[in-house]
Order: sequence, then C-alpha cells, then structure tokens
Amino acid sequence: MKIGVFDSGMGGLLILEALRKELPEYDYIFYGDTKNLPYGNKSKEEVLSLSQAAFSWLSESGCGLIICACNSVSAEALEELQGDFETLGVILPTVQSVRDSGLANLLLIATKRTVDSYRYENELSDTKLFSVAAPELALLIEENKYKKAIEYASSLIDKKVSDGEVEGVILGCTHYSKIKNQLRTAYPEIRFFSQDEIIPNTLINYLNTNIK
Ligand code: DGL
Repeated sequence: MKIGVFDSGMGGLLILEALRKELPEYDYIFYGDTKNLPYGNKSKEEVLSLSQAAFSWLSESGCGLIICACNSVSAEALEELQGDFETLGVILPTVQSVRDSGLANLLLIATKRTVDSYRYENELSDTKLFSVAAPELALLIEENKYKKAIEYASSLIDKKVSDGEVEGVILGCTHYSKIKNQLRTAYPEIRFFSQDEIIPNTLINYLNTNIK
C-alpha cells in the first residue's frame, strides 16, 4: 500500500522523515502545497478546498491512506475529508500523548487557523490550556529563518512561562518540530510535545489494526 503524507510544506517532510525511519518498508508519496502556504492564515473554506484538491491527487496517485500532517487542516477539515478518503490527522494523537503525560498546565502554540478552531481546547477541556497563535512562525521555518523563528517562539513561551505555571508546550504545527531541540535546550524544565515523535506510533497502531 502507498501512504500519502500531506502538509502545506516542510512540516510534513519532518513527519515523513520520522515515518520512513520507523516504517521503511512502505512506499510514501509526499504532497507539500508550498504554492498556497501558509494554510494557517487562510479561512476554513480555503483550507478545506485546497486540502480536498491535494487529497484527490494523492488518492488518484494510488495512496490508500493519507496522513494529514497539517494541524490547520486536521482542525478544520478532517471530518469532511474522512467522508471521501482514508486519513489520519495529527491532533487526536497529540491530545492522547498530552493526556498520557498527566500534565495539567499547558501552552499550545499553533497557527491562527488551529487556535481559532478551539479543537485542542475542546479535546483537552480537563486541562488548563493557554493557546497562542503564531501567525508568522511556520513561514519563518519554511524559509529557513531559524534564528528568527526561535526568537519568536521563545518570546511567546516567555510570556507564559514567567508566571511559573506552564509544564508542557504543545508544538501544534508540524513545522515547529524543526526547532524543538533548540527550544528544549532553552527550557529544560518544560516538556515539548513534537508531532514527529508522536505520529509514527499512530500509523503503526493503525496498520496493526487495519492491515492483516
Ligand atoms: N504545518 C501546518 C500545520 O501543522 C501549518 C503551516 C501553514 O500555516 O501552512 O498547521
């Protein structure tokens, strides 16, 4: 079976890299919609129609399963896409990982589209979750401007960390995995949830359950 991996850009490549490391025996097709990036600043309707076009292409290319490696699409369009395609999103596995950690005070950094969807808040209603939109962060990372990206992410984290409450940070956009190591070094007391470390297990569980 071919597995499709979709994102607006390089965040999906980080997920693909992690999947290929854990499950090298599968064929993958990657679709990065860099022409239309960033998805996170678009309307729900635009995100839905762009992702439908991308998923159709992946499906026509023979992908029996599509990993939706974009939080903005997972937040706003996954149910609609699941009506037409076999697909796994990134938000529910991340939420499960947060629940498993037992942490109660968390900061979510994500795109505006994801934050405005309230998807993480709704799923994690039993935790204290502060959400902050980072409208420029994915683009900085896409353009390899890592120094600026780390400064920007740190400024968002500092605002919440200074009150001493935050125990964990959800990197709620797949692009942000690119700077996870620098953030972990800068904030050693905080646990960072990075989706490149979560999604391979989600796929393994899916394959174990669905492919005999
Ligand atoms: N990687 C996408 C996500 O996880 C966001 C990048 C973008 O805004 O296009 O939401």
